[in-house]
Amino acid sequence: METIDIRIDGRTASRIYGGEVLSEVTTLLATYPSVFLVYDWNIEPYALPLAQALHAPAKAVEAREADKTLDTVLAICDWLLESGADRQSLLLAVGGGITTDMAGFAACIYKRGIRFAFIPTTLLAQVDAAIGGKTGVNFEGYKNMLGVIRQPEFTYICPQVLESLPYPVFLSGAAELLKAFIIDNRSGGYAQAVTLLTELHARRSSQPLRPEDKTRLGALIHAAAAVKADIVGRDPEERGERRKLNLGHTFAHAIEKRSGGAIAHGEAVAIGILLAARLAEALHIPEATGLADRLEADFRACGLPVDCPFPLGELEDAMAKDKKAEGGSIRFIVPEGIGSVREVLLTGGEAINRIRI
Ligand SMILES: NC(=O)c1ccc[n+]([C@@H]2O[C@H](COP(=O)([O-])OP(=O)(O)OC[C@H]3O[C@@H](n4cnc5c(N)ncnc54)[C@H](O)[C@@H]3O)[C@@H](O)[C@H]2O)c1
Repeated sequence: METIDIRIDGRTASRIYGGEVLSEVTTLLATYPSVFLVYDWNIEPYALPLAQALHAPAKAVEAREADKTLDTVLAICDWLLESGADRQSLLLAVGGGITTDMAGFAACIYKRGIRFAFIPTTLLAQVDAAIGGKTGVNFEGYKNMLGVIRQPEFTYICPQVLESLPYPVFLSGAAELLKAFIIDNRSGGYAQAVTLLTELHARRSSQPLRPEDKTRLGALIHAAAAVKADIVGRDPEERGERRKLNLGHTFAHAIEKRSGGAIAHGEAVAIGILLAARLAEALHIPEATGLADRLEADFRACGLPVDCPFPLGELEDAMAKDKKAEGGSIRFIVPEGIGSVREVLLTGGEAINRIRI
């Protein structure tokens, strides 16, 4: 099994394992005295055999943004209490980012925190949501407003579970995969990812993931996970460098909010990255010249949305209430090439006016 360590303050705080098939994860869980499994309803065919193999009590949750709430977290805590989970127990979350965010948060507050681990089942969660220890729920209409940063024991990634993923959900993760390489392209993953995603998009309705696709995809997921693990290790609490991972996200969160949930997170991230690239050009960052057009052509070929469906002015209000806004200003992360980003401090209105010019 391939491994990536997340090293924080000189010690391994969490580990990412890359495996071939789901059943391999049982070897990683053998030393935990009791395991409790929270899973997404839609992946029951994966989760129930795993729960049986682990002799683990299991609870299903709905993976909907509208249900990513404190109520669901409290229901998970209730179930843990009723099922006898104690301070030595491990909570294993199997699902996409909604499931891992909620179950991780429940584990962080149950009995002042029990251990937890993730098996992400979407591309987005494999390269992003299930790495780095951010957990939480939506609150008062705002995404991820309540939460905790605490590292999982481990994250087990295997491309096998992506076979059943509906193509639009797969595509939603593609934006986060590309984002990782726009931030750090040391592995040369950007061009490889664009090539693979373009091929997959061209035959999206005819064939599921073939074994050779899974091998290529697995390598790219591993490289993207390594980018995030590296950054999180240097800045686990998001005091500086970790902000890079927000590339495209200020715009994306505003787009998601304005759409009332009709636009998926990953789609909004694709549009948000392109708006960030347009902002970089508008700010005359020399290295960014021509970048927005290149990214737009690549994203289009991969099947990602490229146009903001709302007038930009309609995003301003949501950006002002972004949880990362400080005194009215927002630290926008903008790309200055493939593999490099920088931070600029602007109000939402200033950013929008710059892009419009
Ligand atoms: N914690 C973090 O650092 C972080 C980072 C990025 C995103 N997020 C959060 O992640 C969430 C989005 O997560 P997501 O896009 O992974 O998806 P999701 O959890 O919303 O799942 C998307 C859909 O796919 C289904 N699904 C999941 N796995 C499947 C599979 N293998 N086969 C078939 N269907 C499957 C789900 O039931 C759901 O209908 C957002 O709430 C976002 O805020 C968190």
